[in-house]
Amino acid sequence: MRIRKAVIPVAGMGTRFLPITKSVPKEMLPLLDRPVIQEIVEETVRSGVRNIVLVTGMGKSSIEDYFDISPHLESFLAGSGRGGLLERVRDISRFVEIASVRQKEPKGLGHAILCARNLIGNEPFGVLLGDDLIDSDVPCLSQLIHVFEKVGRTVIALQRVPQEDVGHYGIIEGEMVEPGLYRVSRLVEKPSPGEAPSNLAVIGRYILPPGIFGIIDSLEPGAGGEIQLTDALDKLAADEGVFGLVFDGLRHDTGNLLGFLSANIHYALKDPDLGPRLRSFIMERLKQGDDP
Ligand code: G1P
Repeated sequence: MRIRKAVIPVAGMGTRFLPITKSVPKEMLPLLDRPVIQEIVEETVRSGVRNIVLVTGMGKSSIEDYFDISPHLESFLAGSGRGGLLERVRDISRFVEIASVRQKEPKGLGHAILCARNLIGNEPFGVLLGDDLIDSDVPCLSQLIHVFEKVGRTVIALQRVPQEDVGHYGIIEGEMVEPGLYRVSRLVEKPSPGEAPSNLAVIGRYILPPGIFGIIDSLEPGAGGEIQLTDALDKLAADEGVFGLVFDGLRHDTGNLLGFLSANIHYALKDPDLGPRLRSFIMERLKQGDDP
């Protein structure tokens, strides 16, 4: 079955970016001149998926406004002869259909996905977590869709992480069935390094079956007292099978300040106009050593 819809949870409070997230959703923080969430939405669209469900929360309406048309701004840009900018602004809403639903209580990622149940219906769907930015030739979601088309089962994105970091992720136990592809037998959310079954971490891209909703609905709170998607995947792995793909691409975790800055520098260095100038600025500063 074709993947037509994707869920992007954006309800998190963004406490790691306070105080700016007091009034700006963390998804709207800039990646150069665009909000981080635009990169995620573009990955979705480039993967052939146009219907996006945002699971939002209090104070997140600027995300919905961003992907809506903006007649006032568009007529201003048209009137002032700035056609290039006008096209850029129009393109933001042109290629995507956004629907949204509110997560009324912060009960965890699994619960956020469950909130999208009525908008997804009875078909498999993608999930993209906004903190994981993945730069790759073939979009990461598209890589998972290819595997899904082959195996017809749940597929999740995997990446090896340093042993000391396993406690930040969902970690899998599994066996490799072909290079880069694992059959997952068990998942543990944020294990201590001693309990972790491997150092293969779940990264925020998933292709899920509609049956996941019933499983999430039956879950008790897990790690951190939250309803965990990883716990639902663990049940799914035992019942019908889950596959994990070590994707090709460079990932930045924009959920923390260093990752967010690294992502900005990465994309700026790749930019044909900004890149060379930023490179000389950095070289110059490094030459000056530690002096501010
Ligand atoms: C979530 C998931 C976790 C996954 C991670 C990837 O955790 O619960 O299993 O490994 O995303 O970024 P969070 O980072 O929201 O705490």
